[in-house]
Amino acid sequence: MSAANDPLADAPPPSPDALAHSQRLQALIAAEIEATDDGRLGFDRYMELALYAPGLGYYSAGARKFGGAGDFVTAPEISPLFSRCLARQCADILETLGGGDVLELGAGSGVMAADMLRELATLDRLPARYLILELSGELRERQQQTLAAQVPELAERVQWLDRLPEQPLRGVILGNEVLDALPVKRVMRSAHGWRELCAGLDGEQFMEVSREPDEALTQALERLPGSLPEGYRTEINTGLAPWLQTLAEMLGEGSMLWLDYGLPRAEYYHPQRLTGTLRCHYRHRAHDDPWRWPGLQDITAWVDFTAVAEALTDAGLGLDGYTTQAHFLLGGGLEALAGAALSDPGAGESEAQVRNRLDVAAQIKRLTLPSEMGEAFKVIGFATDPALAWRGFGLRDMAAKL
Ligand SMILES: C[S@@+](CC[C@H](N)C(=O)[O-])C[C@H]1O[C@@H](n2cnc3c(N)ncnc32)[C@H](O)[C@@H]1O
Repeated sequence: MSAANDPLADAPPPSPDALAHSQRLQALIAAEIEATDDGRLGFDRYMELALYAPGLGYYSAGARKFGGAGDFVTAPEISPLFSRCLARQCADILETLGGGDVLELGAGSGVMAADMLRELATLDRLPARYLILELSGELRERQQQTLAAQVPELAERVQWLDRLPEQPLRGVILGNEVLDALPVKRVMRSAHGWRELCAGLDGEQFMEVSREPDEALTQALERLPGSLPEGYRTEINTGLAPWLQTLAEMLGEGSMLWLDYGLPRAEYYHPQRLTGTLRCHYRHRAHDDPWRWPGLQDITAWVDFTAVAEALTDAGLGLDGYTTQAHFLLGGGLEALAGAALSDPGAGESEAQVRNRLDVAAQIKRLTLPSEMGEAFKVIGFATDPALAWRGFGLRDMAAKL
Protein backbone atom coordinates (compact mmCIF):
# COMPACT_ATOMS: atom_id res chain seq x y z
CA MET A 1 0.00 0.00 0.00
CA SER A 2 1.44 3.40 -0.92
CA ALA A 3 1.71 5.98 1.88
CA ALA A 4 -0.86 8.12 0.04
CA ASN A 5 -3.47 5.34 0.36
CA ASP A 6 -2.51 4.22 3.85
CA PRO A 7 -5.10 5.34 6.42
CA LEU A 8 -2.44 4.98 9.11
CA ALA A 9 0.13 7.16 7.32
CA ASP A 10 -0.47 10.11 9.66
CA ALA A 11 -1.03 8.01 12.81
CA PRO A 12 1.56 8.21 15.60
CA PRO A 13 3.78 5.16 14.97
CA PRO A 14 3.99 2.48 17.68
CA SER A 15 6.92 2.82 20.05
CA PRO A 16 9.78 0.25 19.85
CA ASP A 17 8.34 -1.41 22.99
CA ALA A 18 4.89 -1.64 21.45
CA LEU A 19 6.33 -3.12 18.24
CA ALA A 20 8.30 -5.67 20.26
CA HIS A 21 5.09 -6.58 22.08
CA SER A 22 3.29 -7.03 18.76
CA GLN A 23 6.13 -9.22 17.50
CA ARG A 24 5.77 -11.51 20.54
CA LEU A 25 2.08 -11.91 19.75
CA GLN A 26 2.84 -12.47 16.06
CA ALA A 27 5.26 -15.25 17.02
CA LEU A 28 2.59 -16.91 19.18
CA ILE A 29 0.01 -16.78 16.35
CA ALA A 30 2.59 -17.95 13.78
CA ALA A 31 3.41 -20.97 15.98
CA GLU A 32 -0.30 -21.83 16.09
CA ILE A 33 -0.55 -21.58 12.29
CA GLU A 34 2.52 -23.79 11.89
CA ALA A 35 0.99 -26.36 14.22
CA THR A 36 -2.06 -26.81 11.95
CA ASP A 37 -2.14 -29.64 9.39
CA ASP A 38 -2.45 -27.34 6.41
CA GLY A 39 -1.01 -23.98 7.52
CA ARG A 40 -4.49 -22.44 7.78
CA LEU A 41 -5.89 -20.92 10.97
CA GLY A 42 -9.57 -19.87 10.97
CA PHE A 43 -9.88 -16.09 11.09
CA ASP A 44 -11.99 -16.38 14.25
CA ARG A 45 -9.06 -18.01 16.06
CA TYR A 46 -6.66 -15.40 14.66
CA MET A 47 -8.98 -12.64 15.95
CA GLU A 48 -9.36 -14.34 19.32
CA LEU A 49 -5.57 -14.46 19.77
CA ALA A 50 -5.03 -10.93 18.43
CA LEU A 51 -7.55 -9.56 20.93
CA TYR A 52 -7.48 -11.92 23.90
CA ALA A 53 -4.26 -14.01 24.00
CA PRO A 54 -3.35 -13.88 27.71
CA GLY A 55 -0.92 -11.03 28.42
CA LEU A 56 -0.46 -10.22 24.73
CA GLY A 57 -3.83 -9.66 23.01
CA TYR A 58 -5.13 -6.16 22.38
CA TYR A 59 -7.72 -6.35 25.20
CA SER A 60 -5.64 -8.51 27.52
CA ALA A 61 -2.53 -6.34 27.54
CA GLY A 62 -1.82 -2.73 28.36
CA ALA A 63 -2.92 -0.79 25.24
CA ARG A 64 -4.84 2.37 26.15
CA LYS A 65 -7.84 1.41 23.94
CA PHE A 66 -10.65 3.78 25.04
CA GLY A 67 -10.86 7.56 24.84
CA GLY A 68 -8.96 10.36 23.16
CA ALA A 69 -5.51 8.93 23.88
CA GLY A 70 -6.61 5.43 22.83
CA ASP A 71 -7.89 3.95 19.60
CA PHE A 72 -11.67 4.44 19.71
CA VAL A 73 -14.42 5.99 21.81
CA THR A 74 -17.54 4.17 22.98
CA ALA A 75 -20.85 5.76 23.99
CA PRO A 76 -20.34 5.50 27.79
CA GLU A 77 -16.99 7.28 27.34
CA ILE A 78 -18.66 10.10 25.41
CA SER A 79 -21.25 11.02 28.00
CA PRO A 80 -22.67 9.83 31.32
CA LEU A 81 -26.10 10.58 29.82
CA PHE A 82 -25.84 7.31 27.88
CA SER A 83 -25.39 5.20 31.02
CA ARG A 84 -27.96 7.24 32.95
CA CYS A 85 -30.64 6.46 30.32
CA LEU A 86 -29.64 2.82 30.42
CA ALA A 87 -29.84 2.85 34.22
CA ARG A 88 -33.39 4.23 34.04
CA GLN A 89 -34.35 1.36 31.78
CA CYS A 90 -32.76 -1.12 34.19
CA ALA A 91 -34.51 0.56 37.14
CA ASP A 92 -37.92 -0.06 35.50
CA ILE A 93 -37.05 -3.71 34.96
CA LEU A 94 -35.70 -4.18 38.48
CA GLU A 95 -38.84 -2.55 39.85
CA THR A 96 -41.09 -4.91 37.88
CA LEU A 97 -39.05 -7.85 39.13
CA GLY A 98 -39.11 -6.58 42.70
CA GLY A 99 -35.30 -6.32 42.75
CA GLY A 100 -32.46 -8.38 41.35
CA ASP A 101 -28.93 -8.13 39.99
CA VAL A 102 -27.29 -6.47 37.01
CA LEU A 103 -24.68 -8.47 35.08
CA GLU A 104 -22.54 -6.43 32.67
CA LEU A 105 -20.47 -8.27 30.08
CA GLY A 106 -17.22 -6.67 28.91
CA ALA A 107 -17.23 -3.52 31.04
CA GLY A 108 -14.33 -1.73 29.30
CA SER A 109 -12.94 1.05 31.48
CA GLY A 110 -15.74 0.59 34.06
CA VAL A 111 -17.19 4.04 33.43
CA MET A 112 -20.61 2.72 32.38
CA ALA A 113 -20.88 0.65 35.58
CA ALA A 114 -19.94 3.69 37.68
CA ASP A 115 -22.44 6.02 35.96
CA MET A 116 -25.20 3.42 36.04
CA LEU A 117 -24.69 2.67 39.71
CA ARG A 118 -24.75 6.38 40.55
CA GLU A 119 -28.04 6.84 38.66
CA LEU A 120 -29.59 3.69 40.13
CA ALA A 121 -28.71 4.98 43.60
CA THR A 122 -30.38 8.32 42.81
CA LEU A 123 -33.49 6.43 41.69
CA ASP A 124 -33.35 4.27 44.82
CA ARG A 125 -33.23 1.19 42.61
CA LEU A 126 -29.78 -0.21 43.29
CA PRO A 127 -29.39 -3.85 42.25
CA ALA A 128 -28.54 -6.33 44.98
CA ARG A 129 -25.27 -6.97 43.11
CA TYR A 130 -23.64 -5.37 40.06
CA LEU A 131 -21.76 -8.26 38.49
CA ILE A 132 -19.09 -7.85 35.84
CA LEU A 133 -17.80 -10.60 33.61
CA GLU A 134 -14.69 -9.39 31.79
CA LEU A 135 -12.31 -11.47 29.69
CA SER A 136 -9.38 -9.13 30.07
CA GLY A 137 -7.42 -9.11 33.34
CA GLU A 138 -5.96 -5.72 32.48
CA LEU A 139 -9.43 -4.20 31.99
CA ARG A 140 -10.73 -5.85 35.14
CA GLU A 141 -8.05 -3.97 37.09
CA ARG A 142 -8.91 -0.75 35.31
CA GLN A 143 -12.61 -1.26 36.13
CA GLN A 144 -11.76 -1.81 39.79
CA GLN A 145 -9.80 1.45 39.85
CA THR A 146 -12.58 3.39 38.10
CA LEU A 147 -15.27 2.16 40.47
CA ALA A 148 -13.12 2.69 43.56
CA ALA A 149 -12.38 6.26 42.44
CA GLN A 150 -15.83 7.24 41.16
CA VAL A 151 -18.34 5.46 43.39
CA PRO A 152 -16.42 4.21 46.46
CA GLU A 153 -19.62 4.12 48.50
CA LEU A 154 -21.18 1.63 46.04
CA ALA A 155 -18.11 -0.45 45.25
CA GLU A 156 -19.11 -3.19 47.70
CA ARG A 157 -22.06 -4.09 45.45
CA VAL A 158 -19.75 -4.79 42.51
CA GLN A 159 -18.38 -8.29 42.03
CA TRP A 160 -16.14 -9.54 39.24
CA LEU A 161 -16.91 -13.04 38.05
CA ASP A 162 -14.44 -15.52 36.62
CA ARG A 163 -17.23 -17.45 34.94
CA LEU A 164 -20.98 -17.26 34.63
CA PRO A 165 -22.88 -17.69 37.90
CA GLU A 166 -24.09 -21.23 38.55
CA GLN A 167 -27.36 -20.11 40.12
CA PRO A 168 -29.98 -18.65 37.74
CA LEU A 169 -29.84 -14.88 37.73
CA ARG A 170 -32.82 -12.61 38.34
CA GLY A 171 -32.29 -9.16 36.89
CA VAL A 172 -30.70 -7.63 33.82
CA ILE A 173 -27.85 -8.90 31.64
CA LEU A 174 -26.38 -6.27 29.36
CA GLY A 175 -23.38 -5.30 27.30
CA ASN A 176 -22.34 -2.32 25.22
CA GLU A 177 -20.08 -2.98 22.23
CA VAL A 178 -19.33 -6.53 23.34
CA LEU A 179 -20.94 -8.50 20.52
CA ASP A 180 -18.82 -6.66 17.92
CA ALA A 181 -15.69 -7.73 19.80
CA LEU A 182 -16.48 -11.47 19.58
CA PRO A 183 -14.33 -13.36 17.06
CA VAL A 184 -15.88 -13.87 13.60
CA LYS A 185 -15.17 -16.11 10.66
CA ARG A 186 -14.48 -14.51 7.28
CA VAL A 187 -15.82 -15.97 4.06
CA MET A 188 -15.72 -15.22 0.36
CA ARG A 189 -18.06 -16.32 -2.40
CA SER A 190 -16.10 -17.97 -5.23
CA ALA A 191 -17.34 -19.26 -8.58
CA HIS A 192 -17.76 -22.67 -6.90
CA GLY A 193 -19.44 -21.56 -3.68
CA TRP A 194 -18.27 -20.19 -0.34
CA ARG A 195 -14.63 -20.38 0.86
CA GLU A 196 -13.53 -19.78 4.45
CA LEU A 197 -10.80 -17.13 4.65
CA CYS A 198 -8.02 -17.98 7.08
CA ALA A 199 -4.71 -16.70 8.37
CA GLY A 200 -1.66 -18.28 6.73
CA LEU A 201 2.04 -17.41 6.65
CA ASP A 202 4.20 -15.96 3.93
CA GLY A 203 7.61 -16.17 5.62
CA GLU A 204 7.06 -14.25 8.84
CA GLN A 205 4.14 -12.21 7.47
CA PHE A 206 0.51 -13.18 7.85
CA MET A 207 -1.42 -13.63 4.64
CA GLU A 208 -4.92 -14.59 3.66
CA VAL A 209 -5.47 -18.19 2.56
CA SER A 210 -8.71 -20.07 2.04
CA ARG A 211 -10.23 -23.50 2.56
CA GLU A 212 -13.51 -25.39 2.17
CA PRO A 213 -15.96 -24.41 4.93
CA ASP A 214 -16.58 -27.16 7.48
CA GLU A 215 -20.06 -28.48 8.18
CA ALA A 216 -20.97 -26.00 10.93
CA LEU A 217 -19.91 -23.05 8.79
CA THR A 218 -21.71 -24.46 5.76
CA GLN A 219 -24.92 -24.65 7.77
CA ALA A 220 -24.50 -21.05 8.94
CA LEU A 221 -23.82 -19.91 5.36
CA GLU A 222 -27.08 -21.49 4.24
CA ARG A 223 -28.94 -18.78 6.15
CA LEU A 224 -27.35 -16.02 4.04
CA PRO A 225 -29.15 -14.67 0.96
CA GLY A 226 -28.40 -16.85 -2.08
CA SER A 227 -27.97 -13.97 -4.50
CA LEU A 228 -24.58 -12.66 -3.32
CA PRO A 229 -22.13 -12.03 -6.17
CA GLU A 230 -18.83 -13.81 -6.84
CA GLY A 231 -15.98 -12.12 -4.98
CA TYR A 232 -18.35 -11.06 -2.16
CA ARG A 233 -16.55 -11.05 1.20
CA THR A 234 -18.19 -10.93 4.56
CA GLU A 235 -18.08 -12.11 8.16
CA ILE A 236 -20.16 -14.60 10.06
CA ASN A 237 -20.17 -15.24 13.78
CA THR A 238 -20.70 -18.96 14.33
CA GLY A 239 -19.84 -18.64 18.03
CA LEU A 240 -22.51 -16.02 18.74
CA ALA A 241 -25.56 -18.29 19.16
CA PRO A 242 -23.97 -20.76 21.60
CA TRP A 243 -22.50 -17.87 23.60
CA LEU A 244 -25.82 -16.04 23.86
CA GLN A 245 -27.69 -19.24 24.60
CA THR A 246 -25.44 -19.99 27.55
CA LEU A 247 -26.28 -16.56 28.93
CA ALA A 248 -30.00 -17.11 28.28
CA GLU A 249 -29.93 -20.41 30.15
CA MET A 250 -28.51 -18.59 33.12
CA LEU A 251 -31.18 -15.87 33.10
CA GLY A 252 -33.81 -17.25 35.45
CA GLU A 253 -36.04 -14.18 35.34
CA GLY A 254 -35.49 -10.77 33.80
CA SER A 255 -34.14 -9.27 30.64
CA MET A 256 -31.16 -9.04 28.35
CA LEU A 257 -30.07 -5.92 26.54
CA TRP A 258 -27.37 -5.53 23.87
CA LEU A 259 -26.16 -2.25 22.42
CA ASP A 260 -23.89 -2.26 19.40
CA TYR A 261 -23.41 -1.29 15.79
CA GLY A 262 -25.13 -3.63 13.41
CA LEU A 263 -27.96 -4.40 11.06
CA PRO A 264 -30.75 -6.86 10.36
CA ARG A 265 -29.47 -9.80 8.28
CA ALA A 266 -30.98 -8.65 4.98
CA GLU A 267 -29.10 -5.33 5.22
CA TYR A 268 -25.91 -6.81 6.65
CA TYR A 269 -25.60 -9.33 3.81
CA HIS A 270 -26.75 -6.88 1.17
CA PRO A 271 -25.33 -7.65 -2.31
CA GLN A 272 -23.76 -4.17 -2.45
CA ARG A 273 -21.83 -4.61 0.83
CA LEU A 274 -19.06 -6.30 -1.15
CA THR A 275 -16.22 -6.18 1.36
CA GLY A 276 -18.02 -6.95 4.61
CA THR A 277 -17.96 -5.03 7.89
CA LEU A 278 -14.64 -5.98 9.51
CA ARG A 279 -12.78 -2.90 10.73
CA CYS A 280 -9.61 -2.27 12.68
CA HIS A 281 -9.09 0.76 14.89
CA TYR A 282 -5.73 2.28 15.71
CA ARG A 283 -5.43 5.77 17.18
CA HIS A 284 -8.85 6.82 15.87
CA ARG A 285 -8.10 5.68 12.33
CA ALA A 286 -10.31 2.93 10.90
CA HIS A 287 -8.92 0.58 8.29
CA ASP A 288 -9.44 -3.00 7.10
CA ASP A 289 -6.05 -4.71 7.47
CA PRO A 290 -6.30 -7.19 10.37
CA TRP A 291 -2.67 -8.33 9.93
CA ARG A 292 -1.33 -4.88 10.85
CA TRP A 293 0.32 -4.66 14.27
CA PRO A 294 -1.57 -7.51 16.00
CA GLY A 295 -2.11 -6.65 19.64
CA LEU A 296 -1.87 -2.90 19.04
CA GLN A 297 -5.16 -2.38 17.23
CA ASP A 298 -8.78 -3.32 17.80
CA ILE A 299 -10.53 -5.65 15.35
CA THR A 300 -14.33 -5.62 15.18
CA ALA A 301 -17.20 -6.69 12.96
CA TRP A 302 -20.74 -5.40 12.82
CA VAL A 303 -23.46 -7.40 14.55
CA ASP A 304 -26.08 -9.38 12.62
CA PHE A 305 -29.05 -8.54 14.88
CA THR A 306 -31.26 -11.12 13.17
CA ALA A 307 -28.78 -13.76 14.36
CA VAL A 308 -28.97 -12.32 17.89
CA ALA A 309 -32.78 -12.43 17.79
CA GLU A 310 -32.83 -16.00 16.43
CA ALA A 311 -30.36 -17.26 19.02
CA LEU A 312 -32.18 -15.80 22.00
CA THR A 313 -35.73 -16.57 20.90
CA ASP A 314 -34.60 -20.16 20.19
CA ALA A 315 -33.34 -20.17 23.78
CA GLY A 316 -36.82 -19.27 24.99
CA LEU A 317 -36.56 -15.51 25.57
CA GLY A 318 -39.11 -13.10 24.12
CA LEU A 319 -37.84 -10.40 21.76
CA ASP A 320 -39.21 -7.20 23.28
CA GLY A 321 -37.76 -4.52 21.04
CA TYR A 322 -35.11 -3.42 18.55
CA THR A 323 -34.41 0.20 17.83
CA THR A 324 -31.71 2.73 17.08
CA GLN A 325 -29.52 4.14 19.84
CA ALA A 326 -31.04 7.57 19.24
CA HIS A 327 -34.61 6.34 19.68
CA PHE A 328 -33.63 4.23 22.67
CA LEU A 329 -32.00 7.16 24.45
CA LEU A 330 -34.73 9.64 23.57
CA GLY A 331 -37.42 7.12 24.59
CA GLY A 332 -35.44 6.53 27.77
CA GLY A 333 -35.62 10.18 28.83
CA LEU A 334 -32.45 11.70 27.40
CA GLU A 335 -34.04 15.11 26.89
CA ALA A 336 -35.32 15.32 30.44
CA LEU A 337 -31.97 14.20 31.85
CA ALA A 338 -30.05 16.67 29.71
CA GLY A 339 -32.60 19.43 30.30
CA ALA A 340 -31.02 20.92 33.37
CA ALA A 341 -27.54 20.91 31.86
CA LEU A 342 -28.82 22.48 28.64
CA SER A 343 -31.18 25.17 29.94
CA ASP A 344 -29.92 28.69 29.45
CA PRO A 345 -29.81 30.47 32.80
CA GLY A 346 -29.64 33.82 30.96
CA ALA A 347 -27.46 36.71 31.99
CA GLY A 348 -24.85 35.96 34.59
CA GLU A 349 -23.91 32.55 33.23
CA SER A 350 -20.30 31.85 34.02
CA GLU A 351 -17.80 30.87 31.34
CA ALA A 352 -17.57 27.38 32.88
CA GLN A 353 -21.38 27.00 32.70
CA VAL A 354 -21.39 28.03 29.05
CA ARG A 355 -18.62 25.56 28.29
CA ASN A 356 -20.47 22.78 30.11
CA ARG A 357 -23.68 23.53 28.22
CA LEU A 358 -21.84 23.38 24.89
CA ASP A 359 -20.11 20.14 25.91
CA VAL A 360 -23.40 18.48 26.84
CA ALA A 361 -25.00 19.62 23.56
CA ALA A 362 -22.03 18.16 21.63
CA GLN A 363 -22.28 14.86 23.55
CA ILE A 364 -25.99 14.53 22.76
CA LYS A 365 -25.28 15.16 19.09
CA ARG A 366 -22.63 12.42 19.03
CA LEU A 367 -24.93 9.95 20.73
CA THR A 368 -28.04 10.64 18.67
CA LEU A 369 -27.36 12.22 15.26
CA PRO A 370 -27.81 9.80 12.36
CA SER A 371 -24.45 10.91 10.97
CA GLU A 372 -22.77 10.04 14.29
CA MET A 373 -23.79 7.08 16.52
CA GLY A 374 -27.56 7.62 16.47
CA GLU A 375 -28.53 5.25 13.67
CA ALA A 376 -25.67 2.84 13.09
CA PHE A 377 -25.85 1.75 16.73
CA LYS A 378 -28.84 -0.34 17.73
CA VAL A 379 -30.36 -1.66 20.92
CA ILE A 380 -32.08 -5.02 21.22
CA GLY A 381 -33.99 -6.22 24.28
CA PHE A 382 -35.28 -9.60 25.41
CA ALA A 383 -37.13 -10.85 28.46
CA THR A 384 -38.22 -14.01 30.14
CA ASP A 385 -41.55 -12.31 30.86
CA PRO A 386 -43.32 -10.14 28.28
CA ALA A 387 -44.76 -7.87 30.98
CA LEU A 388 -41.43 -6.15 31.65
CA ALA A 389 -41.41 -2.43 31.05
CA TRP A 390 -39.34 -1.01 28.16
CA ARG A 391 -39.34 2.76 27.95
CA GLY A 392 -36.48 2.60 25.41
CA PHE A 393 -38.60 0.94 22.74
CA GLY A 394 -41.59 3.26 23.21
CA LEU A 395 -40.71 5.78 20.49
CA ARG A 396 -39.86 3.35 17.71
CA ASP A 397 -39.62 -0.41 17.58
CA MET A 398 -38.11 -1.94 14.43
CA ALA A 399 -38.25 -5.59 15.57
CA ALA A 400 -40.37 -6.44 12.51
CA LYS A 401 -37.30 -5.67 10.33
CA LEU A 402 -35.25 -8.48 11.86
C1 LIG B 1 -15.24 -2.66 22.54
S1 LIG B 1 -14.98 -3.04 24.21
C2 LIG B 1 -16.40 -2.24 24.94
C3 LIG B 1 -16.18 -1.89 26.39
C4 LIG B 1 -17.33 -1.20 27.12
N1 LIG B 1 -18.51 -2.04 27.19
C5 LIG B 1 -17.67 0.13 26.48
O1 LIG B 1 -18.74 0.28 25.93
O2 LIG B 1 -16.83 1.02 26.57
C6 LIG B 1 -15.32 -4.75 24.31
C7 LIG B 1 -15.29 -5.33 25.72
O3 LIG B 1 -15.80 -6.66 25.72
C8 LIG B 1 -14.91 -7.50 26.45
N2 LIG B 1 -15.19 -8.88 26.01
C9 LIG B 1 -15.00 -9.39 24.79
N3 LIG B 1 -15.41 -10.68 24.74
C10 LIG B 1 -15.90 -10.97 25.97
C11 LIG B 1 -16.48 -12.14 26.56
N4 LIG B 1 -16.61 -13.27 25.87
N5 LIG B 1 -16.88 -12.07 27.84
C12 LIG B 1 -16.73 -10.93 28.55
N6 LIG B 1 -16.17 -9.80 28.05
C13 LIG B 1 -15.76 -9.83 26.79
C14 LIG B 1 -13.56 -6.88 26.15
O4 LIG B 1 -12.53 -7.32 26.99
C15 LIG B 1 -13.91 -5.41 26.33
O5 LIG B 1 -14.00 -5.05 27.69
